[in-house]
Amino acid sequence: MSLVGNFAFNNYDATADRAGAGARPGETRRQSQIYYEPISDQPTEEHLRGLHRVRSSYSNKRRRSTVTSQPPQDAINLERTEDVEKTEEAIDDSLSDDEEDKRREDEVHTLARRLTTKSSYTEADQSPFEATGDSKLNPRSPHFNGKAWARAMLNYHLRDPKAHPIRTAGLAFRNLSAFGYGASTDYQKNVFNVLLESWGLVQRLLRINQRRIDILRDFEGVVYAGEMLVVLGPPGSGCSTLLKTIAGETHGFTVDSNSYLNYQGISAAQMHKDFRGEAIYTAEVDAHFPMLSVGDTLTFAARARLPRHIPGGVQKNDFAQHVRDVVMAIFGISHTIDTRVGNEYIRGVSGGERKRVTIAEATLSGAPLQCWDNSTRGLDSANAIEFCRTVRTGTEVNGNTACVAIYQSPQAAYDIFDKAIVLYEGRQIYFGPTTEAQAYFERLGFECPARQTTADFLTSMTSPQERVVREGWADRVPRTPDEFAQRWKDSEEHKKLMVEIDEYDKKYSIGGEYLKKFQESRRQQQAKHQRVGSPYTLSYAQQVRLCLWRGFRRLAGDPSLTFTQLFGNFIMALIIGSVFYNLGADTASFYSRGALLFFAVLLNAFGSALEVRYFLRSCHFQLC
Ligand SMILES: Nc1ncnc2c1ncn2[C@@H]1O[C@H](COP(=O)(O)OP(=O)(O)OP(=O)(O)O)[C@@H](O)[C@H]1O
Ligand SMILES: [Mg+2]
Repeated sequence: MSLVGNFAFNNYDATADRAGAGARPGETRRQSQIYYEPISDQPTEEHLRGLHRVRSSYSNKRRRSTVTSQPPQDAINLERTEDVEKTEEAIDDSLSDDEEDKRREDEVHTLARRLTTKSSYTEADQSPFEATGDSKLNPRSPHFNGKAWARAMLNYHLRDPKAHPIRTAGLAFRNLSAFGYGASTDYQKNVFNVLLESWGLVQRLLRINQRRIDILRDFEGVVYAGEMLVVLGPPGSGCSTLLKTIAGETHGFTVDSNSYLNYQGISAAQMHKDFRGEAIYTAEVDAHFPMLSVGDTLTFAARARLPRHIPGGVQKNDFAQHVRDVVMAIFGISHTIDTRVGNEYIRGVSGGERKRVTIAEATLSGAPLQCWDNSTRGLDSANAIEFCRTVRTGTEVNGNTACVAIYQSPQAAYDIFDKAIVLYEGRQIYFGPTTEAQAYFERLGFECPARQTTADFLTSMTSPQERVVREGWADRVPRTPDEFAQRWKDSEEHKKLMVEIDEYDKKYSIGGEYLKKFQESRRQQQAKHQRVGSPYTLSYAQQVRLCLWRGFRRLAGDPSLTFTQLFGNFIMALIIGSVFYNLGADTASFYSRGALLFFAVLLNAFGSALEVRYFLRSCHFQLC
């Protein structure tokens, strides 16, 4: 599991971090250079080299201080042999040197003390698993800092030569189109129209009388590893479809065969087959086992992606528990560890907390390409910004790539992204840096009203009622989705994008060296007995064990159904046992034995009817 960098932190100031504020000159940026530069090429060696640079500069400083603090004894002896007067001068010099040495030594001590108490270097070098008390790396401490933890974890990972290399996955797409089919008629199904329904099924299979619905038309874009893309558009414009297409969740619609997707040297087919867990789609709706506690839900997620070799040789369960605690601390859900997740019917954690459980679960996957579909739904503005910062940390520290569909994005959240794509009824009307999007539409003749956020301004382009046309531009601005799409295709920004995609394709040719690096990293992460082409990290036996564990935890979460069934079976066993008691051991009891077996099977088959009752009871919760 590539955990490092998938974590955010409360009170994280992205602006300050980017500007280097709050740290000694060079410190923060040096760290980010270490993480950022090498990600696309040689992560491990470069990271290590970077870390070595930091450490050697520190040891050199110390060494220099030690050398200068030695009293210049040799020089004094030499003067003595030559001239007595000079000797006196030399003694005076040596005295002043002594003072100077003392001053320097004091300075070194002061610096050392400051380093011990404040320095992030020492924390970054610490083992996150041994952090206790008030340490910033301890998820149970009130001073816990997600970013410090992520950095320490990355250092820890990179120091271990057996740990799998960190991998990244960018994305370039061209001519990307997707469509679905809709029938012209639909009807309420009942016993009598079952034949019509079967004919409808045949029609659907043979694509007869089906209306093609174009959901995405001719999309283009490039998102490098370590970048964040914000997907903007009104409801129904195709945001979810775009994210699903990128993540390979194409159930229910078809991606056009002419679409071209390059996942940093990996073809779409291979990405969605061999590396299915590497490009994840986090749906808008939370789907969990409602009876499972938050702690167990996240423990399962952490264990499902346990790497073959845990950095530093930490025990697997300790590791899973530690990272679970860390994500819970980051998302502020530590207090819900023993609470049921719940759902619409079963009382559990609150809606906002459940959303954060979903985000935490996806974070634990450590996937290098993440698609988040309206994941800020149900979160307040501050938490929505915090979520974006969390994703940003993953991209900055670990080189992840994130595509996020977000509605009503606050300006602070929008500013966190690198690139934006704007959708209008399935057409792409802009793709490019977030900083240039507003200027692009202003050049088309629109005006951004004062105090409107950039994200709202961009989304307003898709609504004739909301967009504001500049004075004198009424007859020149595009109006329909097709006109907007055409203006985008004719723009300079589009031409630049096409050049960029071509360069991307040349650099990351499909099936080239980047694919091999990705495969190698994945191989080293997977369990020893797992197939190379398998999308799973654990071996088959480990998966069975983990699912059994979860099965028992679910049972413990709600044993009522099982106990009711056991109790019912016990009573029925007594009744039927008394009816068929003491059967003879000859063929005369043959029919009775047959009836007995029939009852045994029938009763267990009817046992599942209990689940219907149980389901109705769950619905009753909401109805009352
Ligand atoms: N399988 C399908 N067959 C036909 N039409 C579809 C199919 N899937 C989606 N659509 C249509 O495509 C359009 C885009 O759907 P999509 O779910 O991507 O929208 P969205 O931008 O995510 O909207 P929302 O913000 O409401 O979730 C919608 O009009 C939807 O009805
Ligand atoms: Mg959607």
